[in-house]
Amino acid sequence: MDKSYFVGPLKEKSMKHRINIVVLAAGEGKRMKTKWPKPLVPILGKCLIDFPLHAAFTFLEEGKFTGDVTVVLGHGKEEVKSYLDSENKKLFYCIQENQLGTADALRSFFSQGKSPLDNDWTLILCADTPLIGSETLKKMVEKLEESDGVVATFKTPRPKGYGRIVKNGDSLLIVEEKDATDLERQIQEVNSGLYLFKTSFLTRALDKIDNNNAQKEFYLTDVFKHSKNLKSLLFEEESIFLGVNDLNQLSQAEKLLREKKNQKLMESGVRLMDPANTFIDYDVEIGTGVLVYPGTFIMGKTTIAEGSTIEHGSLIKNSHIGKNVTIKSMSYIDDVVIKDDCQIGPFARLRPGTEVGQDSKIGNFVEIKKSILAKGVKVSHLSYVGDANIGNNTNIGCGFITCNYDGKNKHQTTIGEDSFIGSDTQMIAPEIGRAHV
Ligand code: UD1
Ligand code: CA
Repeated sequence: MDKSYFVGPLKEKSMKHRINIVVLAAGEGKRMKTKWPKPLVPILGKCLIDFPLHAAFTFLEEGKFTGDVTVVLGHGKEEVKSYLDSENKKLFYCIQENQLGTADALRSFFSQGKSPLDNDWTLILCADTPLIGSETLKKMVEKLEESDGVVATFKTPRPKGYGRIVKNGDSLLIVEEKDATDLERQIQEVNSGLYLFKTSFLTRALDKIDNNNAQKEFYLTDVFKHSKNLKSLLFEEESIFLGVNDLNQLSQAEKLLREKKNQKLMESGVRLMDPANTFIDYDVEIGTGVLVYPGTFIMGKTTIAEGSTIEHGSLIKNSHIGKNVTIKSMSYIDDVVIKDDCQIGPFARLRPGTEVGQDSKIGNFVEIKKSILAKGVKVSHLSYVGDANIGNNTNIGCGFITCNYDGKNKHQTTIGEDSFIGSDTQMIAPEIGRAHV
């Protein structure tokens, strides 16, 4: 056994070990039947690939290892790369020209990656297993010890689609569903798709892999044919390894991630009346003492400050809600800032570019678009306010309309402080003051 590359965690505690982290994301994702390349499939306001990348970077930030994270791109490579570039992560890429299998994807990494042979260990994650967290990666490291590699496994009563772990004496093989005998298919211990190898072993084993199998693919799992010194690490919790290959599994993964997010929020003092029916995206931040009714969607990069209440059926997207705000039932709020102590809805629609000042009140069947409302403004019933600036403490009556569009251009309406606009008023912008009453 070649031990020259091994740097055990117990041997050199002061040294940072060097590691390649490779995220496989080149596959076509045929079974998903969506318009996106699989790594970009939306889930909790993020993309599928954001989750393994988050696990990888968190693992590196914990400081025991130094190394790079590389994504293997293939199907939809331009789209995936341009998304990842926009996220500003310190990532490296390599391209798998033809999707010939997971071992071929790794070969692309070793031929194009940034000095991959300088790193003693190589950790491999799939882009489609979003529930694996950095704590799982740490456990892999503990297990590697003096072996050539470790595969994370789990037991499932529904092993269909996963590679089966076939153990015989010292040997450990992974047999893909399509190549398995009837007896092997009954095995319930399966391959999670998460592996940690010694780089020296992995490169040698990859050289030996052929595509002599049912799918005519180069399987990464076949590296297990090339050493007797490989281990499996059986994890108790099946759900963390859920692979997303189709829309059914996507909905399961989404549900599990949502449960995790909601649990965290509740631990931090957010009251969710019915967490199973509350849909909060991964990046949403909510302060303590906030009460959220069921049937609400809080999406994107929304923040909600302490003491606010979100009533049922409301949808809030990419918005900032201040303290002690009440969003009453069935309101739709998209890309909006709402300052402290406001009352919104029921049935209000606030559209992008709107800012609602402190202590304001927007009532039922009111639509506001791209408008700045100062403090204490009231628009209580059945109105349309578009492209407007409204001053402090102005009261707008029922049935008010800013006629902001002349068929070609949009025009601005300005209403000063402490004004009182009577019911059924239309203001034709830009001619302020020529009201149709
Ligand atoms: C794979 C494993 C299987 C395991 C399962 C766990 C192999 C041969 N099989 O099966 O044992 O139980 O994951 O979820 O590895 N990819 C590439 N290039 C390719 C093919 C795939 O980068 O040419 C990427 C995919 O984008 C994906 C990952 O590799 O992120 C796994 O590929 P996928 O086709 O989903 O493999 P599974 O059939 O799920
Ligand atoms: Ca998969």
